Amino acid sequence: MKKILTPVSIIVVSASLLVASACTKKEAAPESAPATTAPAAPASAAAPASKEALDASKATASLELATDGDAIAYDKKEFTIKAGEIVKLTFKNNSTSSAMQHNVVITLPGKESEVDQAGITSGAENGWIPKDHPSIIAHTKLVDPGQTDTIVFRAPAAGKYAFLCTYPGHSASMRGMIIVK
Ligand code: CU
Repeated sequence: MKKILTPVSIIVVSASLLVASACTKKEAAPESAPATTAPAAPASAAAPASKEALDASKATASLELATDGDAIAYDKKEFTIKAGEIVKLTFKNNSTSSAMQHNVVITLPGKESEVDQAGITSGAENGWIPKDHPSIIAHTKLVDPGQTDTIVFRAPAAGKYAFLCTYPGHSASMRGMIIVK
């Protein structure tokens, strides 16, 4: 009898584990939970774009962003793209001062302050970008002066998505909006 019961109980345990992980994913959905419950779940439905392998040559929107010289500012404040399209974003750090590193982090609506804080907490070793943060749609690396980084992501659903530089102290003057239609 024991030899028959054992495999059955393994199946029961596996099934309950599956149910448990399914529940975890649901709780991590961005709009449903007000902040705090999210960090446990990795890439949920919130940020599939950053995990998806996309071909830059298939991009239907090409965004060019740079810094306004040495200023702690981007040279553009707004972009408009279409929901679901593949977007290529090129960011150039035009600064000549060696201390002026910048990044571009695109966030879910209303999450820019949370992402900014998490970025600062994540530290210089992470380029001031919180790893696998559920409220980040896409981001460049931390770009040194004179350097460029290009990212490809899929435009999320229609809405307004802030982009900002999470280098400590920069987001007050380095931010803009991506409008998805
Ligand atoms: Cu910056």
